[in-house]
Amino acid sequence: MFKCSACETTTAKWSGKCLKCEAWRTLEEIPDEPKQKKGLRGGGSGSHGGFLNVGEPIELRLVSASDAPGARGRLLSKISSVDELLGGGLVPGSLVLLAGEPGIGKSTLVMQIAIAARGVLYISGEESAEQVGLRTHRLDNNKTADVKFIGTTDFAHVDGAIRKYKPSLAIVDSVQTMRHPDIASEAGSVAQVRAVANALMELANQTGVPVIIIGHVTKDGSVAGPKTLEHLVDVVLALEGERSDRLRFLRCFKNRFGPTDEVAVLEMLETGLQPVADPSGLLLEERSLPVPGSVVTCLMDGNRPLLVEIQALTSRTTFGFPQRRAQGVDVGRLQILLAVLGRRMGLPVDQYDVFVNVVGGIQADEPAADLAICMAIASSIAEKTIPQSVLAFGEVGLSGEIRKIKQADKRLKEAERQGFKFALIPQMKNLPTLKTLKVAPVTDIKTVLDKIDK
Ligand code: TYD
Ligand code: MG
Repeated sequence: MFKCSACETTTAKWSGKCLKCEAWRTLEEIPDEPKQKKGLRGGGSGSHGGFLNVGEPIELRLVSASDAPGARGRLLSKISSVDELLGGGLVPGSLVLLAGEPGIGKSTLVMQIAIAARGVLYISGEESAEQVGLRTHRLDNNKTADVKFIGTTDFAHVDGAIRKYKPSLAIVDSVQTMRHPDIASEAGSVAQVRAVANALMELANQTGVPVIIIGHVTKDGSVAGPKTLEHLVDVVLALEGERSDRLRFLRCFKNRFGPTDEVAVLEMLETGLQPVADPSGLLLEERSLPVPGSVVTCLMDGNRPLLVEIQALTSRTTFGFPQRRAQGVDVGRLQILLAVLGRRMGLPVDQYDVFVNVVGGIQADEPAADLAICMAIASSIAEKTIPQSVLAFGEVGLSGEIRKIKQADKRLKEAERQGFKFALIPQMKNLPTLKTLKVAPVTDIKTVLDKIDK
């Protein structure tokens, strides 16, 4: 049961606002109820608090935006792009999953969020107080951090600590290291991970404490973990990038309280993860000298255009089957494009090993990158350099036709802003007004390749 500290009304379910006196965040759990024990059992039961929980149906048109969880009192990370990504900060009582490969910077990011907030509880089953403390010192320039630490892998401790200290934010690093006492299997198993996440969901709902859980994923995403949790949690964030590179992308795949499909571009520096104001500029900064096999394309990261360099290297196959390797491009897609180049354009692709790379550890998994990938390969085989002022985007179809893609106008504007002079693009009806960028609409890959050959 929950009791409002202002008007003393009791209610069975927690909500952000007392239904009687309408005071915010005054509901507190009262002990000696069987419900409390439930905190340590799985079974989230869909009782997601926060909305007006009464037995009768609610007239939706009367529910105002300010009744929604998180309309007030969101917790800010102070990293502007991260707060934007979350739709204005962390919502009280919400459960956020931060997924990513080991070593990508998850602990760093959550520590930065913890430092920006006050009264945070950091629970780690991976690192000692010394290790986490060291990171805190490193990231906390003003020496004002107010973060408490508990090192445990026992979920009963996690549950107890969050209920006892009612922190402004609880961080659980990582979900794979926590062991729920009700489940017999090893920590990190699917059953454990789900039980821990379910219990945290209920805990967050009941206490109003926002919880961030960290989940490790491997490159192929196969390990028990984040994938199985996505439908459970309120928000799914993924931190991506190449460990060897400093660029990181924080994506929001699911958000019950804000927009999805957004991305924050961050840079891993000595001072932690910092927002990048001009990601395209940063990515193109280190462009090599003009060499065959390099073409710039424009991807869309959520709503933001991002210029990236695609590199292809081809060399004559000396033994056996020609090799196809790709980084940042799906190998299956690469094989289709090679088949188009071979069958439709007559390029001798089966005599070449082909390696394709997207600079900056970025995933070019959009069809828009097709044209640039084809051009890069053709340019490498022909040993002809494509001028660096040229940019290309468009989907390549199986008969070599170049197909329309979405948000072409945004991509062109960004290309112009970055000083490109010439854009090869699919045919489109409404071209945006451009001053310095010349646009050449192309209908099929052949015309493009003929140009390269000259
Ligand atoms: P970490 O947050 O520990 O990764 P994860 O929790 O995802 O496994 O950080 C990974 C790397 O980041 C580590 O190799 C050190 C580096 N790093 C920085 O470059 N700058 C910093 O300010 C910090 C704290 C870490
Ligand atoms: Mg970590």
